[in-house]
Amino acid sequence: MTSKAFLAATALVAITLSLPATAAELTVGFSQIGSESGWRAAETSVSKSEATKRKVTLKIADAQQKQENQIKAIRSFIAQGVDAIFLAPVVSSGWDAVLKEAKEAKIPVVLLDRDIDPSGKELYLTAVTSDSVHEGAVAGEWLAKAAGGKACNVVELQGTVGASVATNRKKGFDSVVAKNANLKVVRSQTGDFTRAKGKEVMESFIKAEGGKTICAVYAHNDDMMVGAIQAMKEAGLKPGKDVLTVSIDAVPDIFKAIAAGEANATVELTPNMAGPALDAIMAFKAKGTVPPKWIQTESKLYTAADDP
Ligand code: AHR
Repeated sequence: MTSKAFLAATALVAITLSLPATAAELTVGFSQIGSESGWRAAETSVSKSEATKRKVTLKIADAQQKQENQIKAIRSFIAQGVDAIFLAPVVSSGWDAVLKEAKEAKIPVVLLDRDIDPSGKELYLTAVTSDSVHEGAVAGEWLAKAAGGKACNVVELQGTVGASVATNRKKGFDSVVAKNANLKVVRSQTGDFTRAKGKEVMESFIKAEGGKTICAVYAHNDDMMVGAIQAMKEAGLKPGKDVLTVSIDAVPDIFKAIAAGEANATVELTPNMAGPALDAIMAFKAKGTVPPKWIQTESKLYTAADDP
């Protein structure tokens, strides 16, 4: 073998060694938000099973709703030299510095279920999310139809302040309200995507409005709606009958409420964000295949007519 051929062969071996030969060698760090909702718990558990299916080692760091914990987790993943980082960003701003560090370390980042501000667009490989403006619009269209042109005072339970999904679900719903003069959002406040806060805020809405004037509740997730249903029942109201409800996620508990006639509609958000994200990372690592910037998941409406 000539010395040139030897050098070329050595270089090839070195390149081959630096690339994970199989998915079994891939390690992905996942900075998860926490466990604020049933949907979030489902996403964590589906992520684990999707990784196991593909023989990928998934390291999950629970940030307990705090962005600072997510930033620490990302830095720790960089220091560990993981092959990729999954990030479910609790809020949309404040990521540029840490994502630049990941980029400098040549670690691809995939966003799961929430977006970051446009300034960070070049700092991640792809985002697996739904169209959350569309989700809000689907919820609004359902309500517009259900209200049937009658004057309808709506109270809104918003998600976490600063989260892309909260901003967008509001925006989408408001766009439908703007086209339907009979719909009026009379109260709107964050319930932080949790059941307990949803109940607490709904209680304050009922106190402030006097229960009977509320025609509908729109909640940015099902957990807050389940809390709101409890608050309405305790106040002697009949959710699902006297008060229309529409929320987002399609978790088992809202289907139970729909089946019991205590809720009306939900927009599905799949908890399987990790499956498509893992496929994208594996193709990127193995063949350099660059995924589309946005891998969009479906947003389907479910009501009692779907016999949940
Ligand atoms: O980002 C997705 C949202 O986060 C879900 O709709 C909500 O339940 C969760 O907390």
